[in-house]
Amino acid sequence: MTKISNVYAREVLDSRGKPTVEVEITCDDGGIGRAIVPSGASTGQAEALELRDASAERYDGQGVLQAVANVNDVIAPTLLSQDAADQSAIDSILLQCDDSPQKSQLGGNALLGVSLATAHAAAASKRVPLHQHVNDLFSATPHLPTSSTPRPALPLPMTNMISGGLHAGGNLDFQDVLIMSVGASDYRTGLEWIVRVYRRLGELLCDAGFEGRLVGDEGGYGPALGSNRQAVEFVVRATEAAKLRPGEDVTIALDVAATHFVQEDGSYRLVTEQDTTLTSSQMTDRLEEWVTDFPITSIEDGLAEEDWEGWREMTKRLGDKTALVGDDLFTTNESRIRRGIELGVGNAVLIKVNQIGTLTETFCAISAARQAGYGIVVSARSGETEDTTIADLAVGVAADHIKIGSIVRSERLAKYNQLLRIAESLR
Ligand code: PGA
Ligand code: ZN
Repeated sequence: MTKISNVYAREVLDSRGKPTVEVEITCDDGGIGRAIVPSGASTGQAEALELRDASAERYDGQGVLQAVANVNDVIAPTLLSQDAADQSAIDSILLQCDDSPQKSQLGGNALLGVSLATAHAAAASKRVPLHQHVNDLFSATPHLPTSSTPRPALPLPMTNMISGGLHAGGNLDFQDVLIMSVGASDYRTGLEWIVRVYRRLGELLCDAGFEGRLVGDEGGYGPALGSNRQAVEFVVRATEAAKLRPGEDVTIALDVAATHFVQEDGSYRLVTEQDTTLTSSQMTDRLEEWVTDFPITSIEDGLAEEDWEGWREMTKRLGDKTALVGDDLFTTNESRIRRGIELGVGNAVLIKVNQIGTLTETFCAISAARQAGYGIVVSARSGETEDTTIADLAVGVAADHIKIGSIVRSERLAKYNQLLRIAESLR
């Protein structure tokens, strides 16, 4: 038993200069764990609440001193002398401390910081890498059939090249055009390919008179292009300029983030496509054209978070041609994922720890998805920090993909580099 002897939270800043919660947990055997909570901009309605102070005098109302106080004054006393290695017991205590549906009493940010720091502390006490500890914990997740207990494995990155939507000032309707180095023999090689395509893309954008130097929140370029289609065309051309074969060496993924341009009547307004308004079915037609015209192998949030019927039709029509990843749709929430599985909606799940708020609930979401044969994409948020927990999480649960953002900005590289270290240890 690894007894928790101290729990301490503080306010730190994320990659957008916005306050966030950092938690440190110390065990009586000297093991120390620390985690920093990320923060989204294009959030789903069903996500755990990010508690912010709302006092305009500090950080324009974005401070997290209340969430920090909730950790130090409310949560910490309940965890002293508890076993840090028993993650599910710790997370149950957290859920007793705040049993509201979206963790709105103490804040999902308060709970998640504690939950993740606990895993770090337990791994330090056991003297094993975090990904190994995560794998041990995940293997013990209830309902996970022994046959699908994964060994730690490196995920294939899905890397942002061009940013739009809420991450780059609304320059494009679609949020991300990403690439995957599907033909690379290993992680290190794939990383070099990604950087090469990124550099060629910057040059091509500049040559064509677009901004190919300034980057969006996740490090992707944020040019004011004429259409979403043009963004994909640039990425295909950059792949060729990098002497790589589109569709064989490198494929394209989209995060459409359609929740953020759906209108009240359920139609989809594409401002950068000659301000066209499409029904849900027409949106699927449009995506189908794209899948036919480009080497697209993954589409995230192609439709909005409550358009379950549209998602069902989209899955019937496109599900055997491409991965259909639910982000705002599933919000890493086991019950939403189970509903999706029942309805035949999507075939892959985006996993963001702060959408749900504890590590154990994250494992339950992953295990439900895995059992149904859904793909797993572990994802960062647009607001990130030097925290690298998700790299170890993705390896520990043997996720298919990891989506960290682009290949510049150190809050992104912290994770890519952690995966390089892990790659050496898995050899
Ligand atoms: P977010 O963006 O962190 O702003 O939600 C990431 C995504 O939509 O996948
Ligand atoms: Zn998304």
